[in-house]
Amino acid sequence: MTDSMISRRAALLGAGAIVAWSASPARALLAQVDGAALPAPIEAILARMTLEEKAGQLQLNAAAWSGGTATGLNPPSSGPSFDGQVADAVAGKLTGVFNGNGVEMARRMQDAVMRGSRLKIPLIFAADVIHGHRTIFPVPVAEAASFDPDLAMRTARMAAYEAAAAGIDWTFFPMVDIARDQRWGRTMEGAGEDPLLGQMFAAARVRGFQGRSLAADDAVMACIKHFAAYGATESGLDYNAVDLSERTLREIYLPPYKAGFDAGAMSGMASFNEINGVPATGNPWLMQQVLRDEWKFPGIIVSDYTGDEEMIAAGFAKDGKDAARLAFLAGVDMSMQSNLYALHLADLVREGAVPQATLDRSVRRVLAVKHRLGLFDDPFRRIDKTRETARSRTRAAIALSREAAQKAIVLLRNEGDLLPLDLNRRIALIGPFASGQHDLNGPWVVYGDNNQAVDLVTGIKAAGARAVSVTAGSGVEEALPGGIAAAVAAAQAADVVVLAIGESEGMSGEAQSRTSITIPAPQMALAEAVAGTGKPVVVLLKNGRGLALEGAVRDAAAIMVTWFLGSETGHAIADVLFGKVGPSGRLPLSFPYESGQEPYYYAHKATGRPAPAGPREPYKTQWRTAPNAALYPFGHGLTYGKVTYAAPDVPPTLAWDGRIRLAATISNTGTRACEELVQLYIRDRVASITRPVRELKAFRKVALAPGARETVTFTLTRAQLEFLGQDLRPTVEPGTFDVWIAPSAQAEGVHGTFELLR
Ligand code: BGC
Repeated sequence: MTDSMISRRAALLGAGAIVAWSASPARALLAQVDGAALPAPIEAILARMTLEEKAGQLQLNAAAWSGGTATGLNPPSSGPSFDGQVADAVAGKLTGVFNGNGVEMARRMQDAVMRGSRLKIPLIFAADVIHGHRTIFPVPVAEAASFDPDLAMRTARMAAYEAAAAGIDWTFFPMVDIARDQRWGRTMEGAGEDPLLGQMFAAARVRGFQGRSLAADDAVMACIKHFAAYGATESGLDYNAVDLSERTLREIYLPPYKAGFDAGAMSGMASFNEINGVPATGNPWLMQQVLRDEWKFPGIIVSDYTGDEEMIAAGFAKDGKDAARLAFLAGVDMSMQSNLYALHLADLVREGAVPQATLDRSVRRVLAVKHRLGLFDDPFRRIDKTRETARSRTRAAIALSREAAQKAIVLLRNEGDLLPLDLNRRIALIGPFASGQHDLNGPWVVYGDNNQAVDLVTGIKAAGARAVSVTAGSGVEEALPGGIAAAVAAAQAADVVVLAIGESEGMSGEAQSRTSITIPAPQMALAEAVAGTGKPVVVLLKNGRGLALEGAVRDAAAIMVTWFLGSETGHAIADVLFGKVGPSGRLPLSFPYESGQEPYYYAHKATGRPAPAGPREPYKTQWRTAPNAALYPFGHGLTYGKVTYAAPDVPPTLAWDGRIRLAATISNTGTRACEELVQLYIRDRVASITRPVRELKAFRKVALAPGARETVTFTLTRAQLEFLGQDLRPTVEPGTFDVWIAPSAQAEGVHGTFELLR
């Protein structure tokens, strides 16, 4: 904290607010602080606060700027005008706002508080910066397909750099909910179905957003959400109840949250769902025992949007006051949007229903977070008009968006090496996503603009394709009059069809649960008609979740998963389509054969009647029309090389305190360079708790030139074989372990076994 910084900003901002701040008691007290986590001056501020001011520090509402557009992203709710909100902030009834817009808004609000409020406690500005601010990166699940946590760290860093320049101190990200049911629309916000991948991406995203120091002017505080197990919602129905054993919760769902908190995230968000009968927002076991007592989390927990109030409809709280009491006593420090804390907390303390010390503890946490963000030092730290413009959509950000999008694309199928396409072939580009600046960024973007994103046809033409015709052929969920006839004619006049079909932005994301995770019927009719021409078809899927592919789409010669890729969509797809870069993404979630298999995930249990490989047998674990497997499993993704796995090197034993080196030789016998994702899976054959048929333990990307080969080695120790025993404590039992070094969760790759010896 330096006075020179304050005076520099005073010069920029006009002296008034800064002078007021400099003269304030908070500033005077903090002048003594040496950067410790919880400085004494904050305690002194706390001592001067009224109960109402304390409750105000625990109330966060959607920004009313621009007529309250922030609430458009959530269920409609009425609130004050912007001026009314500013007045509330000055009166100490608000800790900050979220999903507002830009430096101008933040400056006006902070300015008013620094000039007019009694204690001059800076406001905090939050936002859903999920996968980019103005430059939009692939949706998070797509980015997870890169299996490259470092990439996720870099995109998060870039998002923070842009967002922090626009006045944002705090992002509601990363979302780390494991998603094992593809009916759930919010699959697209996370890292897929696997806990290991989930942990790695959670930690990387936190590090990216928060940077080296939270106080930096390009750091944004991360928020681990939605705590907890929001993705395990029954039948994939958003907001639905979750009923989970403590074992599954601790083994599968909780580890990514823990990884995010361990990486230093200073905030978390309670989830909407109940767990085993108790709403997460009113759940002291989750927020006290697990989060505070076991994990030692020092930061703040915010409710989700009106999550506290929703406990009334859920049948857990009597009324608003009861909901505020339950949420607060359970451990939710801050209420989002319902205004319940501002309305009731002071009275609850006066009546003795909430201990004063508990209130003080939460306020102390909020003030500490504001301090760590550097806001007491300089309330205008991230509010700078020049920086806002200078850091928006830089060349480096756009280049990173293209790189991330390339790496997110997954090639599912490539019969007869149809891909990469020759630029000289006549292409019929068909489908509702063939052209137009819609559905490029994805469903969860507050500040990005589809009109600034590159659509598919633009990318394909820019890549140098010689002849391209464009035909929509169908709407997303409705037929287009004459669409199919036009598409068939276009296909007939071309050498190859590129069929851009799938889900619109509106079909995945929050509250977009689907009962059937298929391509909508009008687009299927289009696909069947186009296939009828006999022309080779490349399907480009747009999707926010795993899909069940059917008919002509499933049978197309080539299929690429292209998700929602963001600002550089068209360029990135063209790069892979024409082979400027090879496909390197892998599925972070399973594509089942049929919707009815959901929830389907690769790490399922064997059952007592596992279906054998080969012909079907009766009375086995399988559906009438589908095996107990995925059509395209977790980890699957092709390259333009020809990769073989050979020469497993699996020593026969692992000593109790030893380590084991597991190796395989990976060769590219093809004519094109490729990047192969080599995956290590294990299975504990016999244990006191049945174990999944496979579990991912490690992975590594190797670049292979044509004809090249590489020996890939992994090391395992006993710790990586741990599971929760019958008493829910971590345990390892000696015995036989299968190990696969393989290109997917279902591929054989190379397979060996070893014995863990005690
Ligand atoms: C979502 C959160 C989000 C919040 C604020 C809620 O509906 O569940 O993920 O951060 O709104 O926009």
